[in-house]
Amino acid sequence: MISTNELVDLALTMSGMEKLPADSAVYVEGNELSKVLFGIDIGAAELLLARDLGCDGVIAHHPAGGSATLRFPEVLTRQLEFMLEHGVPEDEARDAVQPMITRATMGSHARNHDHVPSVARALGMPFMNMHLPLDELGRQMMVEVIHDHLSTLGGDPTVQDAINALMTMPEFVSAVTPIMVPVGGVSEPLGQYAIVHAAGTNGGAHVARAYFRNGIDTVLYIHCAGDEVMRLQQESGGNLIVSGHISSDMVGINPYVREIEARGVEVIRISGL
Ligand SMILES: [Fe+2]
Ligand SMILES: [Fe+2]
Repeated sequence: MISTNELVDLALTMSGMEKLPADSAVYVEGNELSKVLFGIDIGAAELLLARDLGCDGVIAHHPAGGSATLRFPEVLTRQLEFMLEHGVPEDEARDAVQPMITRATMGSHARNHDHVPSVARALGMPFMNMHLPLDELGRQMMVEVIHDHLSTLGGDPTVQDAINALMTMPEFVSAVTPIMVPVGGVSEPLGQYAIVHAAGTNGGAHVARAYFRNGIDTVLYIHCAGDEVMRLQQESGGNLIVSGHISSDMVGINPYVREIEARGVEVIRISGL
């Protein structure tokens, strides 16, 4: 048995985060959950499915409405933090992230935030989403696995060496989408690299370019739109690794599901899990 508050605390503890970030929320609180439906994307249909399956709680990964979609643009400041940590000057980092914040803010303004939470309330179904903390957990694991693998190699690692490191994780072995390098190439030197995950969404061409201009040779996103990739392909310099959206999300979700199950809760996996 677990409550929605305990599910929040568990994710924060596992990710080392202190408070629930803006893109994660409890929409309908619940106590003593014993059977939960967990999916990457949850909408009204999945909430009804949960009721049909006899679940007493539902967990989504992606924001599903309420404050998590309303305040989503706030977590994009993580893009800024990552750029500063990797030596991108602050002015340049702010300029690079501003178009995404404007896009996300206007997108959030246009959205019907209460659609899915209102269905959960009508059903009396405890419902929450956990986004950034699980991505942060996954990011830490990806950083560690790449760092550890590279430290066993002699000479200058290539982009392929970083991919080989990721391929030691079961989520990438079983992925239906291969790890791609749509900009640069696998045989290029890896050089200085940035794992840009757990920042709301990927940074697109603007953010990747800011890294490339400031001494970072390789950027990893978990996904990237085709238009943004084509923009980067028109320029020279820099490698972009795209590790795969759902497989990369699962890196942080799997350990969380295991911890929930360890508390005696049955987890029904759907939507990418
Ligand atoms: Fe994610
Ligand atoms: Fe995702």
